[in-house]
Amino acid sequence: MPTCPYVIERMISAKAIAARVEDLAREIQTTFAGTDKLVVVGLLRGSFVFIADLVRELDLPVEVDFLEVSSYGDSMESSREVRILKDLRGEIAGRDVLVVEDIVDTGHTLRHVVDLLKTRKPRTLKTIALLDKPSRREVEIGADWIGFEIPDEFVVGYGIDFAQRNRNLPHIGRVRFTKDRAEG
Ligand code: IMP
Ligand code: MG
Repeated sequence: MPTCPYVIERMISAKAIAARVEDLAREIQTTFAGTDKLVVVGLLRGSFVFIADLVRELDLPVEVDFLEVSSYGDSMESSREVRILKDLRGEIAGRDVLVVEDIVDTGHTLRHVVDLLKTRKPRTLKTIALLDKPSRREVEIGADWIGFEIPDEFVVGYGIDFAQRNRNLPHIGRVRFTKDRAEG
């Protein structure tokens, strides 16, 4: 649990997210039109709200699967070491795969996931992330679609947590510590 008090300031409204998700879905729909092999792979747990909203905007035959990789734990720093905690249930060989991520930060997670899934020989592999913090990137990777570019701030809501809390916020908020963290 976070030991220092913090407040959450609204950064992206639920309405703005919904509008953006609709736009993204329209582009994805166009890209994958005609395929009956689409598998949308959500990275647990941060993408669960985004993937739920996204797939409901798609008028395509779509399968949904999930992959869980190790995350920050309760810390705000990337471990830079990515481990699989829960693998996909289905095969993706010959399939059109869309990986759905909440945030691309240092890039280590998405890089690792893309490299791993490519070894399983999907027909195509694309990526989408709700948020992108390009100023934090340590490895070269970009998602094919991005919802919003944001500055280097720690954010929560719409599925994204701080120490497992705040995933249920309908909007995206930035975390502001109300005391100097060194004191807390
Ligand atoms: P990366 O490997 O550094 O790109 O980090 C990716 C993962 O770190 C994301 O999937 C998030 O789960 C987590 N993460 C990165 N930035 C934030 C944030 O601002 N709030 C909460 N989680 C974050
Ligand atoms: Mg994540």
